[in-house]
Amino acid sequence: MKQNIESHLEEKRVFKPSREFTKKAHIQSFDDYKRLHAKSIKNPEKFWASEASNLLWQKKWKKVLDWKPPFAQWFVGGQLNASENCLDRHLNGPRRNKAAIIWEGEPGERRTLTYHQLHREVCVFANILKRNQVKKGDRVLIYMPLVPEAVISMLACARIGAVHTIVFGGFSSDSIKDRIEDSGAKVVVTADGGYRRGQTVTLKQNVDQALKDNTQVKRVIVAKRANIEVSIKEGRDVWWHREAEYVNADCPAIPLDSEHPLFILYTSGSTGKPKGILHTTGGYLTGTATTSKYIFDLKEEDVYWCTADVGWITGHSYLVYGPLANGATCVLYEGAPNWPEPDRFWKIIEELGVTILYTAPTAIRAFMKWGDEWPKKHNLSSLRLLGTVGEPINPEAWMWYHTNIGGGRCPIVDTWWQTETGMILITPLPGATPLKPGTATLPFFGVDAAIVDDHGKEVGPNEGGKLVIRNPWPAMLRTIYGDKPRYKKQYWSEVKGCYFTGDGARRDKDGYFWIVGRIDDVLNVAGHRLGTAEVESALVGHPSVAESAVVGRPDEIKGQGVVAFVVLRETHKPSKDLAEVLRKHVGNAIGPIAKPDEIRFAEALPKTRSGKIMRRLLKQIASGATITGDTTTLEDFSVLTRLTKSADE
Ligand code: WT7
Repeated sequence: MKQNIESHLEEKRVFKPSREFTKKAHIQSFDDYKRLHAKSIKNPEKFWASEASNLLWQKKWKKVLDWKPPFAQWFVGGQLNASENCLDRHLNGPRRNKAAIIWEGEPGERRTLTYHQLHREVCVFANILKRNQVKKGDRVLIYMPLVPEAVISMLACARIGAVHTIVFGGFSSDSIKDRIEDSGAKVVVTADGGYRRGQTVTLKQNVDQALKDNTQVKRVIVAKRANIEVSIKEGRDVWWHREAEYVNADCPAIPLDSEHPLFILYTSGSTGKPKGILHTTGGYLTGTATTSKYIFDLKEEDVYWCTADVGWITGHSYLVYGPLANGATCVLYEGAPNWPEPDRFWKIIEELGVTILYTAPTAIRAFMKWGDEWPKKHNLSSLRLLGTVGEPINPEAWMWYHTNIGGGRCPIVDTWWQTETGMILITPLPGATPLKPGTATLPFFGVDAAIVDDHGKEVGPNEGGKLVIRNPWPAMLRTIYGDKPRYKKQYWSEVKGCYFTGDGARRDKDGYFWIVGRIDDVLNVAGHRLGTAEVESALVGHPSVAESAVVGRPDEIKGQGVVAFVVLRETHKPSKDLAEVLRKHVGNAIGPIAKPDEIRFAEALPKTRSGKIMRRLLKQIASGATITGDTTTLEDFSVLTRLTKSADE
C-alpha cells in the first residue's frame, strides 16, 4: 500500500511581480529572497537578532535563543513592552498624528484614532485596569465587538503586563465560561452589545450568563457600544466611560521580560477541550513585526486592512501587533461583508483608499457566489497588494480574486501559518516570489520547513507527507497554558525533533509548498491517500459549484469512499444529472480514484466562525452517524439540521 499522500492536480500558471511593484518592494528579486533565505537558515539567530533590533528594548537581551527542545526562550534577559513598541515609539516623529486606526461600525459611523489619540486612550484604560486591581501577570478576558475599544484593551493589558485572552464576540456564553475557568481570569472586559448583519449581539448578557455561578470574576468592565439595556451587577460591573472619569492619561509602559506572557488564545482541537495557546512578548513581537514588514511590504502611506476579528490569531498578529509595531494605518470594520449589500468591502476600499487587503478564501468564495457585479460597482484602483489566510485557496478563487479585486495588477500573498505559530511561516514575498495560484510558495526567512514521511524522512518532489518545521522561530507558542504534557505530545512527538503542524502537504519541483489539508482528513481510497483540498479544488473548478467539502466514509471494498458536499452557485439547481456531471468532472481532473461515490447538494456547509469547514461533523453525517462532540464553535446550527435532514430523505 502506498503510504504517501498522492497528488494529481498540476498548476501551470505563473505570475511574476510587476516591475512597478518590485521597484519599491522591500525584497526586490527572487534571487535576493533565495540568497537571504539560505543565509538566514544557516544562522537564524543572527537574522532574528538583527530584526529584533528594530524594536525598542528597555534592556538588551543577553542571549538570542535558549533552545531546550521543545521549550524555546527568545531574547533572554531582554526587556521591552509591546504597547510601547506599538504606540509610544511612534510619537516622536511624523507618525504622531498619522491615523493608527480607521474604524467603521456596521451601521456606518466612522472613527479615526491617530497614534497620539490611541496612545492616550490606551493609557487611560490601562489606568482603569489598575484601578480595578489588575496586576502584572493577571489574566484579563476580553469579549468585544470589533470596535477600537477591543484594540485599546489589548494594548492596555500589554502596557501593564496583564495577559489578555480574547474570546471571539460570536461565541456563546459556554465558551466564555470554559475559558474563564481555564485561564483563571478575574476581570472581564466587554461591551453592552455589538452589531452583526443589522442585529445587535447581546454581549453583556452572554457574559452574565457565563458568570451565573461564578465567584472567581471580580470585575466586569462594560464599554457602551450598542446603547442597549443591560443589567449591572452592583459591586461587580462597572462602565468603561464612568471609570474613565476617575483616572488620568498618564501611564508609563512597564519593562517586561522578553518571555513575559503577552496573551493566551484558545483554539479548538479536532477533539477534546480547547487549547490555550500561550504567546510571549519579545519573540512574538519580533516575528509579527518582521513578517508584517516584508510580506505586506508596508510603506508609510499604506492603508492596510486585515478583515479578521481580534478574536482570532490573525487579528492579534496582523490587525494589532504586527502592523502597529510598524506604524501602519489600519482599517477596522465591525460588521458583516454583505451588510447592507454584498459590496460593503468594496465600498470601504474605495472610500478609505485601502491599499492592502488581507482576507480569507472562505470570504472570497462567498464574494464569487454573490456575483461579479458587486466589486464592479466600485473603484478598487487604490489596492496594490492582496493576501489570504486560513485554508488552501483553490486556484479558481485565486484567479477570481486576482482579476476582479486585484485588477490583474496586485500580487497575492497566500500566507500559511497557525494560531500556534503566531506569525506567517510559509508565504510569497510580493516583490520577489513568482506566484502560482493555490500555493503558499516558500518559507519565510529563518524558517526551515519540510515534508516528511511517517518515519520522519524528507520526501521527494511532488510526494505528499507531513508538514513540519525543523527549527524554532521567535513567535512560536511556548506551551499550552497549564498543560505542558499536551504541548509536548501534540506538537513535538509525531516527528522526532520537529514541530508537527498537523497539515499534509507536498512540494512541487520548484520547492513550493502545497497544503493538501489536515492529516486527520486525508482520504484513503483503495490504498491511495488523497488530500481533501485537491478534490474540493477540482469541484470548485466546475462553473456550477460555489463551495464544497469532501470527506471519507467507511467503505467495505475501498476502505474509504468519497462523499462530496456541494453548494451550488445561485445560477444552478441540484439534479441527478448535475451530480453525475460533477463526478465525471472530478474523475477527469484528478483521476477515477478520486471520483466521489456520492454528491450531496447542500445549501450551506457547517463552518466555524473563522470560516473553517467542520469536517468532523460532515464525516459523521456522511456515515449516517449521529452528531457527537463539541459543536460550540459552529457558526450556524440550522445548517446542521438541514444537512442531517437531507441525509434521511
Ligand atoms: C490551519 C491553522 C493562521 C490564521 C488562521 C487560521 C490552515 C492556514 C493556510 C494557507 C493552506 C492554511 C492550515 C493550518 N491554513 N493558512 N495559506 N494555505 N492552509 O489559524 O485556526 O490556527 O488554523 O489553517 O490547515 O494548519 P488556525
